[in-house]
Amino acid sequence: MDRRRFLQTALTSVAATSVFNRSVAAEGAYSVADSANAAEPTGRLQGGRAGPLREFRLVAQQGEAEVAPGKVYRNWMYNGQFPGPEIRVKEGERLRIIVENQLPEDTTVHWHGVPVPNAMDGVPGLTQKPIVPGESFVYEFEATPAGSYIYHSHVGLQIDRGLIGPLVIEEATPHVAYDRDYVLVLDDYLSGDPQPLGGSAGRGGMMGRMMGGDREGDRDGWCGGRRDGGGMMGMGGQMPPYQGLLIGGRLPDDPRVFETKRGERVRLRFMNPSGATTFRVAIGGHRMIVSHCDGRPVEPFTVDSLILGTAERYDVIVEAANPGVWPIVIAAIEGNAPPGRAVLRYTDAAATALSEGIPEGMRGGRQLDYQDLQSLETLPDGQPDRVFDLMLSGGMMGSAWSINGQAYPNADPLMINEGEHIRFRMRNHSMMLHPMHLHGHFFRVGNVLKDTVLVAAHMGRAEFDFVADNPGRWFFHCHNIYHMEAGMAREVRYA
Ligand code: C2O
Ligand code: CU
Repeated sequence: MDRRRFLQTALTSVAATSVFNRSVAAEGAYSVADSANAAEPTGRLQGGRAGPLREFRLVAQQGEAEVAPGKVYRNWMYNGQFPGPEIRVKEGERLRIIVENQLPEDTTVHWHGVPVPNAMDGVPGLTQKPIVPGESFVYEFEATPAGSYIYHSHVGLQIDRGLIGPLVIEEATPHVAYDRDYVLVLDDYLSGDPQPLGGSAGRGGMMGRMMGGDREGDRDGWCGGRRDGGGMMGMGGQMPPYQGLLIGGRLPDDPRVFETKRGERVRLRFMNPSGATTFRVAIGGHRMIVSHCDGRPVEPFTVDSLILGTAERYDVIVEAANPGVWPIVIAAIEGNAPPGRAVLRYTDAAATALSEGIPEGMRGGRQLDYQDLQSLETLPDGQPDRVFDLMLSGGMMGSAWSINGQAYPNADPLMINEGEHIRFRMRNHSMMLHPMHLHGHFFRVGNVLKDTVLVAAHMGRAEFDFVADNPGRWFFHCHNIYHMEAGMAREVRYA
């Protein structure tokens, strides 16, 4: 991998001088050979205080991807790849990413989880002007701390068009040993254009659509309770009409295959940049040793299954001690998209047939809970200087998704001061899960650092603490993009 990248760096360094020349990025200039599905650095120079500069280029453009044999997904992608190319760098390097917009709409890119300087955060209207069609924007920040991250569009529902990808910052000295390192991007598959759900009257609202029928319509069972049935009058569980679940951009008919050999330790980086799906994950014949949570190192903890809300990441180590061909299964907790699958294959196994059936961990055994995890880093401690009580609600007929009854952008900023210890206490008055994400900071949940926390449905609670150490205007929102778009968001502003 590194050798390959090094060679390509050498080959493409000439092109780096002309990275601002749009013609270089004409569609044909990016072959979609996805041998490792890795982004090709466009150059490598000596940077400032932060170690070598690694330069990448992401072209947001229309593209096609084969998600199953004969099933082509046509939508918007980075460099024509879905998921977007893997950006992998070493801790302490400096990242420069040139994003070029060849879409018919505005876009931006957000580096989910990386505590970047505010101006590099990619939130339109808050931290930057959107990148208009035909224009480019250069993001530059230090690749620190190490971890498994996601990059994605932060405009509208573009995540559900395919504008997502993995960002890995490798640690110099991992606290766990492993022989192989794989990224598994979990996603929900929506073949058509994403449409807003429910939300404010200004967006049509569920009620308007059900009555009028001339807008987004419910031709696919988009509206109404049949997707989930979990809410009041069946209306609380709205999910887009996802047709399936993907691992690495593939439906289960044509799964990604991850190879190992008996005796190896395999690091799997599970990432969930999906639009709205919370996944349960389990592997046939194997337990998982959780080593990182949202990229942060934790004391290794063994489980049979994981739950990943949108934007959450878990790195696990799998000890390859059970030769065979095993399914890695993902199932949706909300909605009724059929499960997704990848394959863990021992190249030295006698059997070559996939062990069918649902992994044990899907039904029983130990399911990871935040409270099980112990961070290996320093956590904010003591009493907060400022506490916010935040009620999450919405999903009823025609109502917006809101925080304390206000739907962004018609919502007050949450004001904080630099240096303060802040606590957010959330209570979920709705029938759906809310993966709540704060930009620009890691926060403490239980005894672990995270950037996204899942708040259970039906009066679930969660709280987190953070230190206000990264001044700016930061977005705080539900990472279900349909909820975010319908108002479940606030600005967190340093006074
Ligand atoms: Cu993944 Cu506002 O972010
Ligand atoms: Cu939500």
